[in-house]
Amino acid sequence: MGYVKSKSSTVLTVYKNVRRLIDSYLVTKTHKSKQMKTSNNPSWINLPSIGLSLKALFSGYLITIGLGALIASAQIMMTHGMADGELGLSIDDIVYSYHGDPKHSKIETKLNGSMKDKAPLIERTKIIKWVRNGASKEQWDSGIKTIFDNRCIACHSTIPGLPDFTQLEEVQAASKSSGASMSSLTRVSHIHIFAIAFIFFFNGLIFSLSVGLNRCFKALMISLPFLCLIFDVFSWWLTKIHPSFAWITMISGISYSLISAITWVTSMYQMWIMPLKGKKYTQNAWRD
Ligand code: HEC
Repeated sequence: MGYVKSKSSTVLTVYKNVRRLIDSYLVTKTHKSKQMKTSNNPSWINLPSIGLSLKALFSGYLITIGLGALIASAQIMMTHGMADGELGLSIDDIVYSYHGDPKHSKIETKLNGSMKDKAPLIERTKIIKWVRNGASKEQWDSGIKTIFDNRCIACHSTIPGLPDFTQLEEVQAASKSSGASMSSLTRVSHIHIFAIAFIFFFNGLIFSLSVGLNRCFKALMISLPFLCLIFDVFSWWLTKIHPSFAWITMISGISYSLISAITWVTSMYQMWIMPLKGKKYTQNAWRD
């Protein structure tokens, strides 16, 4: 009995499923033109209308990179920002970091800093002048060496790890401020390009879902950061060659920070504030 019953119910299920299939086929056929329209233009593809889980994903990402950006700017302030000895990022900082500056050699910095008490002002001034004038061997032999012998080599030839100032070459090495080395520039350039391109990509992808903005404006806000990034990294190399390129570093850095901030705020606003107003947004943000 049970066998027959279960068999007949199986037949019933199969029949029902086949009918459903035929029905849906017929419905699709009759409403084809209408359906095509809606399926090609899903009205939920925009930031205010996407589902909660996608909003959670986007917001989690945006908040995390926002935090990363804050930490990064603090780090830039502390490393490059202090290159000219003053807090805050300036053109000089960029020039000293990438190009170098004879006025900011290690020796001069130290003689005005932790080595200040190692020689009287007159002798320190003599050393600094000599360094700024290119640290020549002639002047070294005619007086500068004596100052180093009297004031510096007690430590700077005996303490391991400190430069040995009985050797002119080591004094000259400390007299240079060559800016960023080729190897460090290459390393930082490729990390910077890869990592930041990813950040811009996802930030831009989220922003591309925003509604109510001019499409050209949107495209510009999405593509400009990449352009600025390329300019930024190129300008480091150019600044190493000539200090006036530091302006490109400054302008491109400020531009992409500003644009990213605008897109960030727009995305967050459209996801969380706009739906609160009760209005329905039916624009497919991914179609022009
Ligand atoms: C009493 C020992 C002593 C004397 C004398 C001394 N130094 Fe130093 N110097 C140090 C120590 C320790 C350091 C490392 C700590 C620091 O950078 O402040 C150092 C670091 C330096 C550095 C940085 C080296 C580097 O590669 O980071 C320079 C440049 C320097 N001294 C220059 C001088 C000059 C120029 C004189 C002489 C006018 C001098 N020092 C005299 C102990 C001394």
